[in-house]
Amino acid sequence: MTIKKIGLLGAGTMGQGIAWAFAAAGKEVILYDIKQEFCDRALNAIGKSLEKSEQKGRVPAGTKAAVVSKIIPTGKFEDLADADFIVECVFENMDVKKDVYTRLDALLKPEVIISTNTSSLPITEIAAFTKRADKVVGMHFFNPANVMKLVEVIPCLQTSEATLDVVTALSAEIGKTPVRVKEGPGFVVNRILVPAINEGSQILYENLATAADIDTAMKLGAGWPMGPLELCDLVGADIALAVMNTLYGETGDPKYRPSTLLKQQVRAGWLGRKTGKGFFQY
Ligand SMILES: NC(=O)c1ccc[n+]([C@@H]2O[C@H](COP(=O)([O-])OP(=O)(O)OC[C@H]3O[C@@H](n4cnc5c(N)ncnc54)[C@H](O)[C@@H]3O)[C@@H](O)[C@H]2O)c1
Repeated sequence: MTIKKIGLLGAGTMGQGIAWAFAAAGKEVILYDIKQEFCDRALNAIGKSLEKSEQKGRVPAGTKAAVVSKIIPTGKFEDLADADFIVECVFENMDVKKDVYTRLDALLKPEVIISTNTSSLPITEIAAFTKRADKVVGMHFFNPANVMKLVEVIPCLQTSEATLDVVTALSAEIGKTPVRVKEGPGFVVNRILVPAINEGSQILYENLATAADIDTAMKLGAGWPMGPLELCDLVGADIALAVMNTLYGETGDPKYRPSTLLKQQVRAGWLGRKTGKGFFQY
């Protein structure tokens, strides 16, 4: 199966990086969001970033033009109709996903695979919204998706081997390293990493150390490239909380109980970099 045209839903934090990753690998990307301006903003950000990289000689001249010209921003859902493959990265909310999958299933060619970038929602439930459940699969990128090499490829109960093979090959084709993980809350990375963010938040809540010192401790003491609180600000506190809620809800294990401070940050709208304030100020 040749996949040339990627339909990408959601031009937020992840959509931006994923669009960039596919376009840099030569794929055409139809980038859709509920408002055209969200897609334009993402495309602008990619362009600016690549312009800086070109000026600093980190990428060859002409990279910006090549990448940006591959991404077609749109606010029209119907423009996704002739995509060969879908990556969905809309809000981490089951009602939003349900609406999107029902409409996608009606719009797309029957052979098209729909992959979800969800961090925490059950993919088996998402697949059941469609009549092509064997062609629904998890394709979990990491932030920033244009840089991070890992893709967790997650079959749900209904996913066929053929679908898995396509997603695995496509991940490798765009320069990523795919790792297959069965569907379980948090998959591999978030099951380990997000409880560490949660613990950092709880240590801060208990006033045991400052936010900066918690991060310094993990960078210098554990060799982490960034501390858990800075990482939370990068990922988004809402996303981190959603993962904790899933780990807690799916397992019933109290070790996954979300930190009170993490919940408060989300209620306050202090989500991290994307809102200008999180555990740190941006
Ligand atoms: N942030 C991370 O580090 C990270 C990492 C891996 C996976 N994810 C997952 O990726 C997905 C998106 O996360 P994000 O951090 O990019 O969120 P975000 O809030 O930054 O962006 C979500 C985007 O989806 C758009 N959207 C909402 N409803 C839509 C609809 N019906 N159709 C099209 N677009 C719609 C929003 O306008 C927004 O631009 C989530 O499922 C999340 O769990 C996030």
